[in-house]
Amino acid sequence: MKKDTYILGIETSCDETAAAVVKNGQEVISNVVASQIDSHKRFGGVVPEIASRHHVEQITIVLEEALAESGLTWDEIDAIAVTEGPGLVGALLIGVNAAKALAFVKQKPLVGVHHIAGHIYANRLEKEFDFPLMALIVSGGHTELVLMKEHGHFEVIGETRDDAAGEAYDKVARMLDLPYPGGPHVDKLAAKGEETIDFPRAWLEENSFDFSFSGLKSAVINKLHNAKQRGETLKPEDVAASFQASVTDVLSTKTVEAAKKYNVKQVIVAGGVAANKGLRAELGNKFADTDIPLLIPPLKLCTDNAAMIAAAGFIAYEQGNRSGLDLNANPSLMLR
Ligand code: KG4
Ligand code: ZN
Repeated sequence: MKKDTYILGIETSCDETAAAVVKNGQEVISNVVASQIDSHKRFGGVVPEIASRHHVEQITIVLEEALAESGLTWDEIDAIAVTEGPGLVGALLIGVNAAKALAFVKQKPLVGVHHIAGHIYANRLEKEFDFPLMALIVSGGHTELVLMKEHGHFEVIGETRDDAAGEAYDKVARMLDLPYPGGPHVDKLAAKGEETIDFPRAWLEENSFDFSFSGLKSAVINKLHNAKQRGETLKPEDVAASFQASVTDVLSTKTVEAAKKYNVKQVIVAGGVAANKGLRAELGNKFADTDIPLLIPPLKLCTDNAAMIAAAGFIAYEQGNRSGLDLNANPSLMLR
């Protein structure tokens, strides 16, 4: 019988300091996340220098907690996986350096992981993958459709040409005077409103799986400005509902088209915006008309965490990928 493999994952690419232990790439043993949201709230977004400083303060505490909660000793940890990019360079460096120091001191193999590969592999903590599969990644920094024919291989078939979905949510939230991060607030507000405004949907060229959200964002700004100038009041919940309808319509329609075109056996959704109730419902409706299984992870695995990094790191480790102690943070790392 094959021995169990325990991977310690580390994630510090944005505003969560996270460490986790995962068994055989699929079973979460411990999962610790220290969020900095409260520190960035008053600035209306993530301030990179503040993020780095918080990571420095939190990283050892979070690592110790993740190991203590796992009930394992260092001897039982097989490898250390860390997000090497993309993300904020100063934030990434804290995780990468912590991982390198531990790999050196504890003499463990080191595996660099792409943040988006992590978001994708969060799904495998719930259910085994069935290839080929299509992944819709919707986060604060990314909006991508990724085709996977086998473990560890990623083919980006569509991506945003401007804003990411989460970014659009956060900007619209700011216009509606909602706190940061705005996505969940817009989501909640949208549930109370109705789609009374016909906002544009950026379908782009025929057969394109790319996305664009900047036109929609401008349409929302214009609508709010014009109403203000005319002394009219728009119901914020209707603005939120109409904006959300446009985003979720485009995301889910393109995902269904891509899934059909590539004849996939499974569709998975990943990233912070996968927590969106409107998107979950719309994808559910559209995929109910197909025979393609749809997998959306629970909310706590949608937003940044280190269990997903350990899950992706397990596959890289099994495939023999190793990083050296010269591993560096790469803020614009490509997924492939
Ligand atoms: O994946 P994530 O935690 O961090 C990145 O890698 O970017 O995603 C964060 C993004 C933020 O833009 C946040 O507003 C958005 O996900 N988000 C949501 C919801 N929950 C989080 N957007 C829409 N609806 C939600 N319920
Ligand atoms: Zn993320």
